[in-house]
Amino acid sequence: MAQIGTDIHLAKTYLEAGNVVGIPTETVYGLAANALNPDAVLTIFKVKNRPSFDPLIVHTDSILKVEQFVSAIPDAARILAETCWPGPLTLLLPKRDLIPDLVTSGLSTVAVRIPNHPLTLALLRSLPYPLAAPSANPFGYISPTTAQHVADQLGDQIPYILDGGPALVGLESTIIGFENPIPTIYRLGGMDPAQIERLIGPVDIRTHSTSNPQAPGMLSSHYAPRKPLRLLRPGFSPPPGERTGTLAFRQSFGGITEHHQRVLSPTGDLAEAAKNLFAYLRALDTLDVNVIYAELLPSEGLGQAMNDRLRRASVPDGSAINDSQ
Ligand code: TXA
Ligand code: MG
Repeated sequence: MAQIGTDIHLAKTYLEAGNVVGIPTETVYGLAANALNPDAVLTIFKVKNRPSFDPLIVHTDSILKVEQFVSAIPDAARILAETCWPGPLTLLLPKRDLIPDLVTSGLSTVAVRIPNHPLTLALLRSLPYPLAAPSANPFGYISPTTAQHVADQLGDQIPYILDGGPALVGLESTIIGFENPIPTIYRLGGMDPAQIERLIGPVDIRTHSTSNPQAPGMLSSHYAPRKPLRLLRPGFSPPPGERTGTLAFRQSFGGITEHHQRVLSPTGDLAEAAKNLFAYLRALDTLDVNVIYAELLPSEGLGQAMNDRLRRASVPDGSAINDSQ
């Protein structure tokens, strides 16, 4: 069983030996390995049960280090890197040969991010190589926002989880690429697109392709709990049922056991809601309920990214009850 602790040196020792280690970030926990060691990277894919066509994000601690493994940084990307890093934003940049093809699933771009977490930044600063790290969940399941989430699902397969407390953002990073005339967001996430547009002008948002996805985080079925999840438009209530779990934005629903309900933010704060989203979905998934109803959030700021995750996690196809009304 994985040891959970705050020992950066121990984490480093395991990484040096080619092991995979759980690491905290401000978005979600990652499953990290030496990005320049193909054997270690292969272990990430095995532990996650992740298909090899789904590329990984490479994490480091400075733009200077990024320049060692990408061949160019377009102007818009540099502005974002200098303003938003460390932070919940991933840039797709042309890769140098140094980065193994396994990391990028053979793509010519590499996804890069400087995460904003003191423990992980200290670890990255101490390493002569970057860390490849997907979210530390089995492929297709909800991302982990605590060390315990990682231990619950992958603890028997990894030696160590660096515990940095609950993730403060709680949603995966926003992913943006620069190969089109207008920068393109491929995954909504912890950084609000409006904030990006204020820095670099208009962006395209293309997160909905279901076939041959640019980013498999865009696959329509992803981030899902094991229990069926159904969506509710804001203001609508779930149909009555004994074994119903609910996830609401500001207040719980009448007629359902309080024990089966979770409220994301009683004050209506989207950042607080994002921080709680995945932990509450996990908690509901472990209850004795047959179905989970989740209320969609206001479609602004982080609400858009949260609705994206809820739609992908839902059955059958992301449509909300009362969508046609
Ligand atoms: O917040 C995050 O991004 C977290 C933390 C640990 O940093 N990581 C994360 O990784 O969410 P992962 O592997 O769960 O999601 C990475 C997404 C995948 O959907 C993958 O397809 C996409 O990034 N991706 C990686 N490299 C890519 C590339 N070169 N082009 C397009 N998409 C890429
Ligand atoms: Mg993931």
